[in-house]
Amino acid sequence: MALAYKAPVYTGSVVGAGNGGKGSMAALSESSRFRLVAVADIQEEARAAARELYPGIRTYDSHAEMFADCPTDVVCVSTWPPSHFEVTEAALDLPLRGILVEKPLADNFSDGRRLLEIVRAQKLPMVVPHGLLVAEHSRQVLARVRNGDIGQLKLVEIQSDGWDIINAGIHWLNFFVTLTGREPVDYVMAACDVSTRTYRDNMQVETLAVTYAHTASGVRVVMNTGDYVSISEPDENTLFRLIGTRGTLDFYGWAPRYRLLNADHPDGQLFEVDPGAATNHQRHLENLATEIDRGQPDYSVAEGSLAALELCEAAYLSCRHGGTAVTLPLDEYSPPPPADWQPGLPYGGRGGGRDGRRLPRRHGQPGRQS
Ligand SMILES: NC(=O)c1ccc[n+]([C@@H]2O[C@H](COP(=O)([O-])OP(=O)(O)OC[C@H]3O[C@@H](n4cnc5c(N)ncnc54)[C@H](O)[C@@H]3O)[C@@H](O)[C@H]2O)c1
Repeated sequence: MALAYKAPVYTGSVVGAGNGGKGSMAALSESSRFRLVAVADIQEEARAAARELYPGIRTYDSHAEMFADCPTDVVCVSTWPPSHFEVTEAALDLPLRGILVEKPLADNFSDGRRLLEIVRAQKLPMVVPHGLLVAEHSRQVLARVRNGDIGQLKLVEIQSDGWDIINAGIHWLNFFVTLTGREPVDYVMAACDVSTRTYRDNMQVETLAVTYAHTASGVRVVMNTGDYVSISEPDENTLFRLIGTRGTLDFYGWAPRYRLLNADHPDGQLFEVDPGAATNHQRHLENLATEIDRGQPDYSVAEGSLAALELCEAAYLSCRHGGTAVTLPLDEYSPPPPADWQPGLPYGGRGGGRDGRRLPRRHGQPGRQS
């Protein structure tokens, strides 16, 4: 008689027991593929809360102590972004089987890329828990766009209340990156109001911002983030509006539904989606378990996350340099010298410049009249 295959169970630990860490702790303890054994956090309050929720676990006040005393198969790096690199680098000294690193991979693109490189160098399976990549409703949205249900995608408008570019915006930009099949982005422009000195998750962030980017083939994204953003739809705190040549598709961040308007649904049809029992963190971690089982790392999610981090950094660079267009790749970008030019003021015929009425036509561009 053939014995039934029993999937291996991997031990897991979490560094940083806040909101992101709670997602990983719950997933590790709920999933039959994992056993949550330890948690590290610099704050006793967070450690005590973790012990109360998961009485069997060990807790530590530093990742170094936990790694020395209680190495696990999988580590979830759920601290604030500026320490992701340091904690990940230390975790790689363990006989690790897989790693989860929270978004953003780091607080800057260069460290995010270094982080991915050191994980890759060990051929270690890795996930970054961008929930929209595994949530049922957003997967259906992706499938519909790929299926041509709204024709050719032209514009993605995002409105996000109570958040910023780097902390939640990276989830949304990651979805844009996925929608466009990671098509190269030509440039990013952003304007940030910083008047309130808001910080979030150990990062200085904007009070209100608009980020604009477009891909090489011309798919645009316009994202409005900030402490208080009024959303076009009542009762929603996030809105995605995908505009195609033959329809539109709206959805509302994490809410399990979307609205499709196209020739088949000329009045717009709301689709309510069953989100299923597993959380998004659990889905990502179970994908990690499958990668470990097969011994085949898949870095596509991490690469997409890094591409989204590049867009975030480009947006903040654009803000820092007065809203200039930041061309990608970022490695090849250098900021222009400060410009003595004020759009909107009269031009007095002095001080150089070029006549916008006499610009050479670009190849294939129609003449302009106004
Ligand atoms: N994927 C998601 O859906 C999701 C959801 C929430 C948060 N996150 C991410 O999780 C990360 C943490 O954010 P959060 O919302 O959990 O913040 P948080 O403030 O709720 O929790 C962070 C925790 O990390 C601890 N910490 C900080 N530095 C540490 C260190 N060096 N060693 C050990 N513990 C440390 C803090 O004491 C705190 O308890 C961020 O990168 C955030 O973007 C992701």
